Amino acid sequence: MAPRVLISDKLSDAAVQIFRDRGIDVDFQPDLGKDKDKLAEVIGQYDGLAIRSATKVTPTILDKADNLKVIGRAGIGTDNIDKEAASKKGVIVMNTPFGNMITTAEHAIAMMFAVARQIPEASASTHAGKWEKSKFMGVELTGKTLGVIGAGNIGGIVCDRARGLKMKVVAYDPFLGEEKAKQMQVEKVDLDDLLKRADFITLHVPLTDQTKNILSRENLEKTKKGVRIINCARGGLVDEEALADLLKSGHVAGAAFDVFSEEPATDNPLFNLPNVVCTPHLGAATTEAQENVALQVAEQMANYLLTGA
Ligand code: MLT
Repeated sequence: MAPRVLISDKLSDAAVQIFRDRGIDVDFQPDLGKDKDKLAEVIGQYDGLAIRSATKVTPTILDKADNLKVIGRAGIGTDNIDKEAASKKGVIVMNTPFGNMITTAEHAIAMMFAVARQIPEASASTHAGKWEKSKFMGVELTGKTLGVIGAGNIGGIVCDRARGLKMKVVAYDPFLGEEKAKQMQVEKVDLDDLLKRADFITLHVPLTDQTKNILSRENLEKTKKGVRIINCARGGLVDEEALADLLKSGHVAGAAFDVFSEEPATDNPLFNLPNVVCTPHLGAATTEAQENVALQVAEQMANYLLTGA
């Protein structure tokens, strides 16, 4: 009998086609992930579950997943999957670490420009017919120091693009070797050094016990006056209350956040502060990236279900 896969989030049609072409019986129910009771009811029928970020794979879901062999996350972060419970149940968790890295890096660069030149506020004011030409004085990126926290797949691309913009790049990443840093033309520094020197700080690390609250109040207070902070990685890396206080005091000149400690974010200490640019977790939201991650997750899951590889 053909393996059965449930797609419970909005995934590109290309993924459905790949599963079909590989002889897998696929059920495309893009809104099911939001209904945890319904998901728990049906999950027992499937060998594979393909998701993005809306489906939360909790121990309760896994408890009912008696035939499940693999969960495929079309994207990078697997924080919506209880990996311990999955492993206890013998379910493999796979992601697509490369499919959306360019798109996410580009979003971080776009956010850096947006906060440097106050583009969203200037746009809203112009739409409102105000023509406030003298209100929106920005800063150049050329010659400024960008502090990159996490210089892996996405952070590495951000470093490259920032070098192209003629920024000086300093990176804090315990996994970055001196040789690699030299090749990337970035200066490897410790966190305190980065905090002291950076005009812009951008985060590109997963949320783990080691990185949670990495920009704590204490660390935010060590930053250079006038710093601008960009977070397109994960909510929970930055103390949002402390950042809001430092924005109000003028120590931090601006912030651009795509991710929040609670999502969906309908209320947040950063909302409605001047020169804070917010987007609703759009880091991976381009047609190209969504096509890439959907194709990759479908191929990987099909390989696993059909050949065990
Ligand atoms: C990811 O982890 O791939 C990104 O944050 C995108 C997403 O969650 O949709």
